[in-house]
Amino acid sequence: MDSFTQFEHQGWARVADKYDSVWSSSTCQFIPPLLDAAEVSAGMSILDVGCGPGYVSAAAAERGTKPAGLDFSEEMIAIAQKMFPHIQFREGDAQNLPFIDASFDRVLANFALLHLADPERACAEAFRVLKPGGKFGFTVWAPPSESPYAKIIDDAIQAHANLDVDLPPGPPHYLFAGREEFRQALERAGFDGASMIFKLHTIEWNVPSARYVFDAERNAGVRTAGLLARQTPEKLRAIQSAIENAVRPYAKNTEFKIPKSAYVISVSKSDV
Ligand SMILES: C[S@@+](CC[C@H](N)C(=O)[O-])C[C@H]1O[C@@H](n2cnc3c(N)ncnc32)[C@H](O)[C@@H]1O
Repeated sequence: MDSFTQFEHQGWARVADKYDSVWSSSTCQFIPPLLDAAEVSAGMSILDVGCGPGYVSAAAAERGTKPAGLDFSEEMIAIAQKMFPHIQFREGDAQNLPFIDASFDRVLANFALLHLADPERACAEAFRVLKPGGKFGFTVWAPPSESPYAKIIDDAIQAHANLDVDLPPGPPHYLFAGREEFRQALERAGFDGASMIFKLHTIEWNVPSARYVFDAERNAGVRTAGLLARQTPEKLRAIQSAIENAVRPYAKNTEFKIPKSAYVISVSKSDV
């Protein structure tokens, strides 16, 4: 394992049991648009890459498909298997899929690509295991310019964090710069770039307090948590207070409703 994959692997082992209570209320809101963009329908075979606790697999099963979930974290696979015992989940690396060519009608990856050392390799693997005419659908977080949540975190980090810390180098935080860069990367993986659907989708993430966001990133995240773990107490306090101040304007009744955006992308493998 390269150092970034190892860092992510240890990170997900640490936070797997917190994922459902902290992040699922955010990531699950993107599943219906993801399944729609990839035109998932009854009878299809589905691979859910970076499945975590298995929500995409479960939603795809509800549409009458035959899903299989894959994640490199044994802790996540154990949780998924417990939550959805009727679905098959297995351990494996998104960048080296343990399936033969042309096995699936759809490959889906909800917020998995940003965690990979080599996302382009994962796209090429998705292409390989798709049947001709199949589709690859995935989501990635939108950058601060498009997503108020990302801006809250990014502004606080840029203003107060020491970025010169010992973290294994990974892919860019928001992967490719925009629609055209995504299209070109998907074409390099073999996909038909002209078929690409690329949508910005925004949800509201409801959190119970202004402090919740900092605690979530620090205790239940992986990459940002790694950066936060390497800050001095003073810097950490400054980051926390900047995040809390930026969250407060989103107060609504007893909660905070923060807009969070992601790109929902799907692309086809030509059937010729
Ligand atoms: C942000 S979570 C997404 C979970 C889920 N798909 C969802 O919709 O909420 C990212 C998941 O990708 C998994 N992951 C990270 N790197 C991976 C890799 N190289 N191969 C397979 N899974 C990986 C993590 O273990 C984690 O479960």
